[in-house]
Amino acid sequence: MADAPMIEAKGLKVHFQTAAGLVRAVDGVDLTVPKGAFHGIVGESGCGKTTLARAVAGLQKATAGTVKIAGRDRAEWQAADRRGFARSVQFVFQDPLGSMSRRQTVGQTLEEPLLIHGLGNAGARKARVAELLDLVALPETVLDRLPRSLSGGQRQRVSIARALALDPQLLIADEPLSALDVSVRAQIVNLFARLQERLGLTIVIVAHDLAIVREVCSSVTVMYLGRVAEEGAAKPLFSDPAHPYSQALLSAVPSPDPRIEATRPRILLQGDPPSPRNPPPGCRFSTRCPVAEAACRAEEPALRPVAHGGRAACLLANAAQHAVIDHA
Ligand SMILES: Nc1ncnc2c1ncn2[C@@H]1O[C@H](COP(=O)(O)OP(=O)(O)OP(=O)(O)O)[C@@H](O)[C@H]1O
Ligand SMILES: [Mg+2]
Repeated sequence: MADAPMIEAKGLKVHFQTAAGLVRAVDGVDLTVPKGAFHGIVGESGCGKTTLARAVAGLQKATAGTVKIAGRDRAEWQAADRRGFARSVQFVFQDPLGSMSRRQTVGQTLEEPLLIHGLGNAGARKARVAELLDLVALPETVLDRLPRSLSGGQRQRVSIARALALDPQLLIADEPLSALDVSVRAQIVNLFARLQERLGLTIVIVAHDLAIVREVCSSVTVMYLGRVAEEGAAKPLFSDPAHPYSQALLSAVPSPDPRIEATRPRILLQGDPPSPRNPPPGCRFSTRCPVAEAACRAEEPALRPVAHGGRAACLLANAAQHAVIDHA
């Protein structure tokens, strides 16, 4: 379907049965990512970002809900044409070293998916590997090197190149920056942005670094305890967040503008998020929310439209925004 979104997840749940009880890692998420978007997923540690990303990519079985990729049911597609699905949807892992064979050279690492999928003869594969290196701006001199002899940034470029080998439509990257030095992060993010433009890819990136998400993402999902707290176009959402949780997250991000930095409100969240084994009743954020009222503890809020054009799951949405900023 030409006009279908790249990702359309509905009512997605991923629950893990553990000795200590049922972990509701993803607990009813709707996610729509249009074709050609650069989408960010943010939120504190443990809120379900990785589990959501893996469930969308088909690496994690969902407990409930559906995922469509480019209009096709993901589970059916994977069952009917595993290879075709794998060519279309690629995952970039957090730790590039852990996701590569330590004994394979960069050249072998990049050729491997082409061999597995039976693409081209030796000459065509060699040409494709050279093209992939060029796409991620690595010199041909890395071809004979082993992953561990590369810098962190180079390794992540290799793992991105490998993910691109089969010319996917969708790249899902789980914290591709977290293993990198701060100085290298911007380069890798710029690489993603360039690839997205040049290849017309759709990219979903899970990231902790909100400043980077603000810079490059076209749209964003803010997660809290297995649910979507807020979503929308990145720039409007980041400049006018409606959910008190997004406001708190963003208030921790320093501004490069010293005037804004001097006056920006800082909202400190108390304590850690509650356990996904036992989410609080009503709004899951109500136990840490600076503006929660009795109604917030009674009813779990649905996502509804807010001023920045996206949606937030907060009963007080735009009203809360002003209360928080006035009191900060
Ligand atoms: N295989 C599993 N079995 C049991 N619990 C799991 C499993 N995978 C994840 N969880 C739990 O599900 C919740 C969400 O985990 P997830 O890794 O998706 O969070 P995250 O947002 O990616 O966190 P981080 O920012 O630390 O990477 C956590 O409470 C985690 O402990
Ligand atoms: Mg994670």
